Amino acid sequence: MFITFEGIDGSGKSTQIARTEAWLRERGYDVLVSREPGGSLLGEAIRDILLDPRWHNMAAKAEFFLYSASRAQLVNEIVRPHLAKPKAVVILDRYDDSSTAYQGGGRELGIQTIEEINRFATGGLVPDITFVLDLDWPTSCARRAKAGMENDRLERNAHDFFERARAAYHELHRRHPARMILLDGAQSADVLFAQIKKELEKRL
Ligand code: ADP
Ligand code: TYD
Repeated sequence: MFITFEGIDGSGKSTQIARTEAWLRERGYDVLVSREPGGSLLGEAIRDILLDPRWHNMAAKAEFFLYSASRAQLVNEIVRPHLAKPKAVVILDRYDDSSTAYQGGGRELGIQTIEEINRFATGGLVPDITFVLDLDWPTSCARRAKAGMENDRLERNAHDFFERARAAYHELHRRHPARMILLDGAQSADVLFAQIKKELEKRL
């Protein structure tokens, strides 16, 4: 099973991934967790470029192809080989919906165009289930400030950028209702995890 978590920065993905991973391991699944951008050695090098404030004038299309390059490597080197094993589960902290939301919506490159190029980059590998943690940007900022987290290059973008990315997640959910589960990320971590577990129990 291939599971992805999506949502704007600070929406609670890492928190829910840690719980999901532990829960699946207890049930005997061979769980691999990875993240985007990054996950592979090449991907982590690309991640360093993407998050570096030095490249504040990076063109939107250059940014998109760097994310795609990292993803293509992750799929080939890590995701596909793991999924071939018995009782395998791969959990990704972001996948191609992030490009559709952030580059397609946030940077306004267009949702349809980005989805087409994503299919090429991933060789058409689609998650079995995608959890979208839906949260507004001010709430995310307040949570991260409370935790003492600093903003990286992307997080210094305007509030409008994240609200466009969030709207794109809503559009993606309308397009792919069977695969994507839209959850209210403002709920407590316990309530959210109960909803995630219920969905997984149905599908495993
Ligand atoms: P992401 O991986 O999406 O960036 P995190 O899981 O790191 O998000 O969460 C960002 C911050 O919000 C962390 O400080 C985390 O402890 C806190 N947090 C996560 N989930 C919740 C929640 N449901 N309610 C309140 N705070 C949360
Ligand atoms: P990261 O710190 O992993 O995100 P988070 O704060 O959600 O834990 O940083 C990844 C950043 O890259 C995040 O701002 C989302 C962005 N991103 C894109 O713009 N496009 C993409 O395709 C991906 C995978 C991430």
